[in-house]
Amino acid sequence: MGSQETKPQNLDCGTPNQLKAGVILPAAGSGARMESITPKQFLQLAGEPILIHTIKVFAGCPAIHCIILAVAASQEARVKKLLTEFLSIETRQKIRVTKGGATRQQSVKAGLDALPDDIQLVLVHDGARPLVGRELINACLRKTREQGTAIAAIPVNDTLKQADADGLIGKTIDRSNVFRAQTPQGAQRQLLEQAYLVAEEDNFIGTDESSLLEHAGIPVAIVPGEEGNIKITRPDDLRIAGGLLGEENMLRIGHGFDAHRLVEGRPLIIGGEVIDYPLGLLGHSDADVLSHALIDAILGALGKGDIGKHFPDTDDRYKGINSLKLLEEVIGLTNDTGYALSNADLTILCQRPKLAPHIEKMQQNLAAACGAAPETINIKATTTEKMGYTGRGEGIAAHVVVLLRENPTKI
Ligand code: CTP
Ligand code: MG
Repeated sequence: MGSQETKPQNLDCGTPNQLKAGVILPAAGSGARMESITPKQFLQLAGEPILIHTIKVFAGCPAIHCIILAVAASQEARVKKLLTEFLSIETRQKIRVTKGGATRQQSVKAGLDALPDDIQLVLVHDGARPLVGRELINACLRKTREQGTAIAAIPVNDTLKQADADGLIGKTIDRSNVFRAQTPQGAQRQLLEQAYLVAEEDNFIGTDESSLLEHAGIPVAIVPGEEGNIKITRPDDLRIAGGLLGEENMLRIGHGFDAHRLVEGRPLIIGGEVIDYPLGLLGHSDADVLSHALIDAILGALGKGDIGKHFPDTDDRYKGINSLKLLEEVIGLTNDTGYALSNADLTILCQRPKLAPHIEKMQQNLAAACGAAPETINIKATTTEKMGYTGRGEGIAAHVVVLLRENPTKI
């Protein structure tokens, strides 16, 4: 068979092996199921927006000559900024940005319309599937060259149930030959364009390219998908994706230490709790040694200096202030930076008074100020066996260790 015969119909730019490939990344959705103000494809995953991860995988495939991003008109400026911030000039040269539509199908259509003329093999991949592997991309490309179409899909492992309207199981569905569809999905350009024409004529709407190809009577060849190639759809998916990426850079640790002198004529306030005792801690604020150590630990984890830098004791606004208010401010800063308190371990060094009866209240006060569950704040108290300044009852000290975790949905 000569090369003339092996050419797909209506194509005049080489054999399947020579056909140039491009990818369309639909990324114009609003991510309703993610319930975040920011569309999910722009949420952070291991320090980079999800869409940037996706683009980088395709940019790293030499066989992909062109990357079309279909994005919502309202997000175009954001996308252009992200591309400049995160991608090299070489990668940016491969990218075209086009306006997506109201449905995924319309966004992919806009991507098809924006494809350069010399691209004859098309992969479509959800912008919100950042963990796709290059092997899978290449396998889909190979299958598309060989058979004209391809879909990444995984056989269903779980038993399938169909529920009745009353929420009870109606029946068990036979799962043999049932697959979960992923992307990439590939097709020779003319086949995909043909499928889009038929869908338009029939007012057919599908949630992936394969549905449209099937509807047009074009067979679609299966390529084994990857379990890790998840679509970020709900908040849990972000955590799963983070775990798969091993996001050690999503955690930050901090240590805080503080000590105050015990004097007459001051109330004793520790962890927001006023404790009945003849002496109190001396300081510019309420001198709550435990809250201060916690604040310092959080600021340390954020890499943002210490309590004195944020609330100087030369500033009259902080004279006698309730330190829980300062803690609330620091937690606000933490959230604004994209982090949340994972847990804190606090140790108070105090010879007298006995603190055990007050620990639970302190825990509640600090947890409330942090907007965290009480279990995330562990408080211990110890004497120093009458040794040193705490042992002699001259003062009280506190050590705190905190762990912060990145909180992408808040960005
Ligand atoms: N997509 C698109 N244009 C649309 C809708 C979806 O380009 N009008 C894109 C999404 O941005 C995503 C991919 O198609 O990359 C898969 O869609 P889906 O996971 O459903 O994303 P959303 O539609 O954004 O999410 P939801 O359905 O929860 O609103
Ligand atoms: Mg959707």
